[in-house]
Amino acid sequence: MSFVFTEANEANFAHLLPRYPHPKALVLPCLWMAQYQDTYISMDAMHFIAKKLNVPVAHIYSVATFYTMFNLEPMPKYHIQVCKTLSCELCGKEDIIKAIEEETGLKVNESNEFFKLTQVECLGACAGAPILQLNEDYHENLTPSSTKKLLQRLVL
Ligand code: FES
Repeated sequence: MSFVFTEANEANFAHLLPRYPHPKALVLPCLWMAQYQDTYISMDAMHFIAKKLNVPVAHIYSVATFYTMFNLEPMPKYHIQVCKTLSCELCGKEDIIKAIEEETGLKVNESNEFFKLTQVECLGACAGAPILQLNEDYHENLTPSSTKKLLQRLVL
């Protein structure tokens, strides 16, 4: 097992541990720390967390694979997640996807050294449709033009 928490994550873990009634309740914070550390959650990281929390690795795996916000493979710098649900679909999601494809040269579910492009279910900000999530930030009321400008600012 080669994964270990950084010193900062170990300190954060020690800070959080007494705040939870059972170490098992720390699964999500530990998965977030592992993801921030490596951009994704490796099997090594899952084994490390399972040992640290004294729970079966199958439990860690089931949580990490249940939530779509956890990456199970190394990620490029920017993850573009475009909402594909009804409000965004009706408000021009396809035009946003096309603009991203033109700007990055990527198709949905492809990645390069800067970007990964995926479509996701409702991001819970339907009033701002069409919307995309760029890493942890939401960008709402997009047009093809504003989407291209957003991406151009990232690679300058
Ligand atoms: S339908 Fe896109 S955010 Fe809800």
